[in-house]
Amino acid sequence: MSTMNNKNLKDSEHLHFSWTITKLLSSFFLLVSLFYLFYSLGFLTHSYNCAQKKPYPYYPLPTINHNVNTTPPQVPFEKTNISHIVFGIGASSRLWAHRKEFIKLWWRPNETRGNVWLDQPVEKTEPSEDHLVPTLKISSDVSNFKSKNPRGNRLGIRISRIVSETVRLGMENVRWFVMGDDDTFFVTENLVKVLQKYDHNEFYYIGTSSESHMQNIHFSYNMAFGGGGFAISYPLAVALERMQDRCIERYPALFTSDDMIQACMAELGVPLTKEIGFHQFDVHGNVFGLLAAHPITPLVSMHHLDLVEPIFPNVERVEALQRLIGPMKVDPYGLMQQSICYDKARHWTISVSWGYAVQIFRGVFVARDMEMPARTFLNWDRRADYTGFPFNTRPFSRNVCQKPFVFYLSAYDGLVNHTLTEYIRVQPNPDCKWKMPDPAQIQIVKVIKKPDPHLWDKSPRRNCCRVQPTNEEGTLVIDVGECRKDEIVE
Ligand SMILES: *[C@@H]1O[C@H](CO)[C@@H](O)[C@H](O)[C@H]1NC(C)=O
Ligand SMILES: *[C@@H]1O[C@H](CO)[C@@H](O)[C@H](O)[C@H]1NC(C)=O
Ligand SMILES: *[C@@H]1O[C@H](CO)[C@@H](O)[C@H](O)[C@H]1NC(C)=O
Repeated sequence: MSTMNNKNLKDSEHLHFSWTITKLLSSFFLLVSLFYLFYSLGFLTHSYNCAQKKPYPYYPLPTINHNVNTTPPQVPFEKTNISHIVFGIGASSRLWAHRKEFIKLWWRPNETRGNVWLDQPVEKTEPSEDHLVPTLKISSDVSNFKSKNPRGNRLGIRISRIVSETVRLGMENVRWFVMGDDDTFFVTENLVKVLQKYDHNEFYYIGTSSESHMQNIHFSYNMAFGGGGFAISYPLAVALERMQDRCIERYPALFTSDDMIQACMAELGVPLTKEIGFHQFDVHGNVFGLLAAHPITPLVSMHHLDLVEPIFPNVERVEALQRLIGPMKVDPYGLMQQSICYDKARHWTISVSWGYAVQIFRGVFVARDMEMPARTFLNWDRRADYTGFPFNTRPFSRNVCQKPFVFYLSAYDGLVNHTLTEYIRVQPNPDCKWKMPDPAQIQIVKVIKKPDPHLWDKSPRRNCCRVQPTNEEGTLVIDVGECRKDEIVE
């Protein structure tokens, strides 16, 4: 029980009373000041909105910063173009005679800038060929770098230093340094398109990881794999140049050029900005499955061209890549982009990989399956283990009837307002007992597509395709383009 006496009670009453007075008074002042605060804020915001409506029409500013930055608005900078890029291609003198053929496919004489960095001088090619490849340079000697790696890492050090050596050339009007190997194929328009998204005045390290989960674990998921190519913005390359040699010395156990770059990027605190249109191609066999279900992003590069099978059947590797040049010219942004549609009458699923191949499947496959790469390739350990890829894949076909009829690009035409690409079948399909229309009746697929120079200026979305009526025997005519309002794949 409480044993409080009277005096105490009085005291506490008195105390309570004065508390209440204080509370009332302070509440009053609080109310007054709050009112004033709201009033003045409202007034200020209001007058702000009246005076200068433009900068933030949708979001009234909560407070006014009186020290408004008075620098004039930035002049919208000129878009990055091919002249702003300097390529640094790591090459070996021993393989140059053969590998230069890959570079000649994508190098644009008098337009692209850059150098091929060799380990020693090569026999002079015919002068007529000089402008078809980048300028040849010999890397500086790296024998003074210490190495703890039993396999030796001089090659890695040499290639890694191409960035610094290129910076030291002091070329003008450079925004990006792009590294690649002598067996890397670039789609330069798409490279430019991707780099246009980024401010070259900031620090950027752009590329992507490997198709091999083990490779990514062994090196780093934060590393841009060098063969797939990567881009370093100008100021970052300058910062790297200042510290690269010291940085390399700190990692004598590292073996390859790209992990040395990544180690230095980590020291500079610059993360990898992933752009998945770069392709390292750490796989074996046929990359058809990867290309035919290309992610919805521009195709920027392909690597390991000597290792994987030719991308078109029955032709040499260089000749196969050569075939992509036509579609690349008429609609580079659309190259390899997939669209999925159905021949409803015949119950076929059709997948177009524009400029490359068209597949016809018996039966209806949903979009989420079709956009998954089919495992036509083996992983980096030459095993058919689907857990080795850091992305989802699907089997190429579960039974003979589901094996797609693949039509490969055979001809292209860039007309005034549209492109026409033709695809034919060059490999037989197994017999199938299903009682349904046989895609073998189709000899040629014709795809009509309007080039879309703004494809990547919009939010990424897969194109739509539509089967067109035709009287031509053995022909499938397909229209590919931006999806119409309310058009979905179903
Ligand atoms: C690229 O832009 C620069 C301006 O920064 C311009 O001088 C040059 O002519 C452009 N090059 C091409 C190939 O458009
Ligand atoms: C490139 O420039 C050189 C000299 O400047 C010229 O002789 C050559 O024809 C040009 N090549 C192309 C493909 O424009
Ligand atoms: C191409 O498109 C433009 C604009 O849409 C049109 O005016 C022109 O007639 C078209 N040309 C042809 C050959 O279809």
